[in-house]
Order: sequence, then structure tokens, then C-alpha cells
Amino acid sequence: MSDSADTAGAQKVRIWDIWIRLFHWSLAGCVLFLLISGTTGWQFFEWHRNVGEFVLALLLFRLCWGFVGSGNAKLVKLVASPLRALAHLGHLARGQVAPERGHNAAGGWAVLLMLVLLSFQAVSGLFIADEDELIEGVFYGLLPGGLSEELLHLHHLNGDILKVVIGIHLLMVLLYALRAAQNLVKPMFTGWMQWPLSTELPTVFFQRWWLGLVLAVASVALVGWVVSWW
Ligand code: HEM
Ligand code: HEM
Repeated sequence: MSDSADTAGAQKVRIWDIWIRLFHWSLAGCVLFLLISGTTGWQFFEWHRNVGEFVLALLLFRLCWGFVGSGNAKLVKLVASPLRALAHLGHLARGQVAPERGHNAAGGWAVLLMLVLLSFQAVSGLFIADEDELIEGVFYGLLPGGLSEELLHLHHLNGDILKVVIGIHLLMVLLYALRAAQNLVKPMFTGWMQWPLSTELPTVFFQRWWLGLVLAVASVALVGWVVSWW
């Protein structure tokens, strides 16, 4: 799809492909549910397990898309030099942030951190059970000694860490709107952003949409097969 001229000082450009957007909003909805249902007691336990397993499939998809997906989804792109990341935060504090056609240097690290913490949470869930064994991960009982109890403790601790990190994620999005007048949320819904004509537009490779569909179906099928077959 070609970029089109829109308003006088800006053009409308494509930034996020459909798969990053579907991934993001599904992930956000599921994780919100998991953070709440993890603490509400047995009522939502069955759903906590099912949704947690679905998040595992989402993360598997994102891992694959991070290798073969669109340019700004690439995992290597998330690892910027720490100096550049710090400089970016400095610019944000002064309200002088240049537009980005992808994650910025600091945001890349934050995304990586969220993906790692969520992966640990989803995988650890497979090996644990609550004290009354009302909810059991599919691999519960496979680990030797008290490793399952240790993982349950870490699942709780990591749940708290996630709440903080996601809180910071939301605060940063708000800060961009307030300090730099950049609305990052709309492009995450629509896929498009306003790019100033005065700034050179970086080229971004967009992967074919059907490859995302193949990977999404394969990720859900693989996780579904493992958790139901075991
Ligand atoms: C549990 C809730 C959430 C989680 C776990 C989460 C996680 C993430 C992740 C992993 C990414 C990176 C996307 C990728 O490259 O794959 C991201 C980006 C983003 N998220 Fe969230 N998110 C959550 C909620 C929200 C909410 C409620 C909003 C809006 C208010 C939001 C706004 C954004 C935006 C705007 C970006 C793109 C940032 C950029 O332009 O670099 N997120 N989020
Ligand atoms: C990314 C996915 C997941 C997230 C974000 C998540 C989040 C949470 C949170 C926040 C808690 C409450 C911790 C606390 O009370 O301090 C919890 C508890 C728990 N989760 Fe998960 N979870 C996920 C995946 C899973 C999966 C796949 C299972 C598999 C069965 C699972 C099993 C459990 C169990 C057994 C508890 C303990 C319940 C209790 O002791 O009352 N979780 N989870």
C-alpha cells in the first residue's frame, strides 16, 4: 500500500501491520484478565489457565514474527544501544521527541522486557498448581523436588513485577501524549500515523499478510496440541 499525502504539513504513513496490532490488543486484553483472575480465587481458575495458554500461543507467534515479520517487528531492532535509549529519554523529558516509524530506542527495551516477563509467566504457569490443586498447569508434577512450589512463588512475584512494568508502559504512552504531543495509541489501532513532511521518512518493510495468518494458526495449533495432548 502506498503512503498518501494527507494534511498540509504531514502525510499519512503506514507504521504497524495488522499482526502487530492484533497481537497487541489481544495480549493486552488477555493479560489484564490474567492479572485480575490470578487473585480472585477459584471462580476464574479454569479461564485463567486457558487464557494463560492462549497468551503462550500469542508469544510464540510474536517470537516467530520477530524473525520473519515486518521490519519494525524484528526482535533485533528492539535492542538499541543503551546510550541511545538514555538519550531518547532525555529528549522526551525535554519534550523534543522526533517521530519514529517503529519502536524508539528506549521503547524497544521496554517491549523486550515485557515479552520476556510475560513468557516466564506463561511458561511457569504450565508447571504449577495452587495450594489446593484446584488449578493445575499441564506439566504440573513433572518437576523434581520443591521446584513447583518455587515456581509458584516466582509466578506470584513476577505477576507483581508485571503490574509495575505494565503500569510504566501506560504512563510512558501518556507521557508521549502530554510531553511530546504524540498520540501513539491511534496508530496501534489503525496502523497509520501522521508523519511530518519536513522529516525524512524511513523505509519499513511490510511482510505479506498471509504469512502472519499461517504463523498465527500454527502457533495456536501447536500450543493447543501440546496442552491438550499431554
Ligand atoms: C496488559 C496490558 C498491556 C500489555 C501487556 C502491553 C504490551 C505491549 C507490547 C508487548 C508492545 C509491543 C508491541 C510489539 O512490538 O509487539 C506494546 C506496544 C504499545 N502499547 Fe501496549 N500493552 C498493554 C496495554 C496497552 C494499553 C491499554 C495501551 C493504550 C492505552 C497500550 C499502548 C501501546 C502502544 C501505543 C504501543 C506502541 C508503542 C510504540 O509506539 O512504540 N498498551 N504494548
Ligand atoms: C502470561 C500468562 C499469565 C499471567 C499474566 C498470570 C498471572 C497470574 C497472577 C497475577 C497470579 C496471582 C499471583 C498473586 O496472587 O500474587 C497468578 C496465579 C496463578 N496462576 Fe497465573 N498467569 C499466567 C499464566 C498461567 C498459566 C498458563 C497457568 C496454568 C495453570 C497459571 C496458573 C496459576 C496458578 C496455579 C496461580 C496461583 C493461584 C493461587 O495460588 O491462588 N497461570 N497468575
